[in-house]
Amino acid sequence: MRILLHRSDGVTAPWIEDFARHLPEAEVTAWQEGITEPVYDYAVVWSPPEGMIPALKNVKAIFSTGAGVDGIMKCIDRLPDVPIVRLADVGMAIQMAEYVTHAVLGYYRRFGEYEQQRARGEWKQLPQHQRDEFSIGILGMGVLGTRVAQALQHFGFPVRAWNRTRKQAEGITGFAGREELDAFLQGTRVLVSMLPLTGETQDLLDRATLEKLPRGAYLVNVARGAHVVEDDLLALVREGHIAGATLDVFRTEPLPPAHPFWQERRISITPHVAALTLRTESVIDIAAKMRKLERNEPVADVVDRTRGY
Ligand code: NDP
Ligand code: OXD
Repeated sequence: MRILLHRSDGVTAPWIEDFARHLPEAEVTAWQEGITEPVYDYAVVWSPPEGMIPALKNVKAIFSTGAGVDGIMKCIDRLPDVPIVRLADVGMAIQMAEYVTHAVLGYYRRFGEYEQQRARGEWKQLPQHQRDEFSIGILGMGVLGTRVAQALQHFGFPVRAWNRTRKQAEGITGFAGREELDAFLQGTRVLVSMLPLTGETQDLLDRATLEKLPRGAYLVNVARGAHVVEDDLLALVREGHIAGATLDVFRTEPLPPAHPFWQERRISITPHVAALTLRTESVIDIAAKMRKLERNEPVADVVDRTRGY
């Protein structure tokens, strides 16, 4: 079995070592410019570079090293018609729960404001927010969003979720489709985006959408930067309509040094770390699926090409 691997960070050796341990029958090649011969059975990629595409011509499946597959979908027309298999959880859901809970509790308990008071040497107790009025709205309650919702429910926050299709979950108010988006937003105090990036979700978080949130709402974006129209968000933060934003993902990554988000203290920035791919766990997951495919058995977590996630 021949696997072609590409890592955007260029760090391939530990992946190759993990494959050697968990799929010893495979020969893994780290893709580099000039490798075009279509002699591989499987590809393991995040976002295949242009020059890699010819080498993927005869693969039996393409495995994503992330939960989101927008990096693969952007060149889908030039890829063979084979299953695209993504990572579903594989240790990411709990990380998302940690990240989002931290952000929500920070806003709810006003830790950011106390941090600023501390910088000014100011001792002042701020009024507590009301828990039952601090509603969390999850855009895209899929594999990761479900875990996040459970963590937030644990603290007693009202949780609502917006999806493409209606989801029933204990204690969560479900909304579905564009026709219910406004109602979802109007009752949301902290908007948490966990949507995949598709043609339907790109630029969804523009002024028109974000203005439907109540004044003083917060945004947590752990999905993809291209969901947000960044100038609109910045303007709404400056106007006070959005009281604060925690952003892990950006239209351009790394976020350029001159980007105005860096200067806005109400915007918290992390470098796309909300839920990191756990390498060994992912290799074990991918190896098990490759073995299934070799036995002509179906595998889970195959992307629906029409939906784009
Ligand atoms: P899932 O596919 O499990 O969940 C996606 C959810 O989004 C589903 O509930 C789906 O609804 C909903 N959805 C998709 N399109 C629409 C739409 N047009 N309108 C309304 N709802 C929609 O994905 P995961 O939970 O595994 O991952 C979510 C995203 O998180 C990834 O795509 C990736 O972009 C991001 N991510 C970010 C990371 C980071 O470190 N920042 C790490 C990992 C992932 P339905 O089921 O009804 O179709
Ligand atoms: C992912 C990511 O999609 O890391 O897995 O963003």
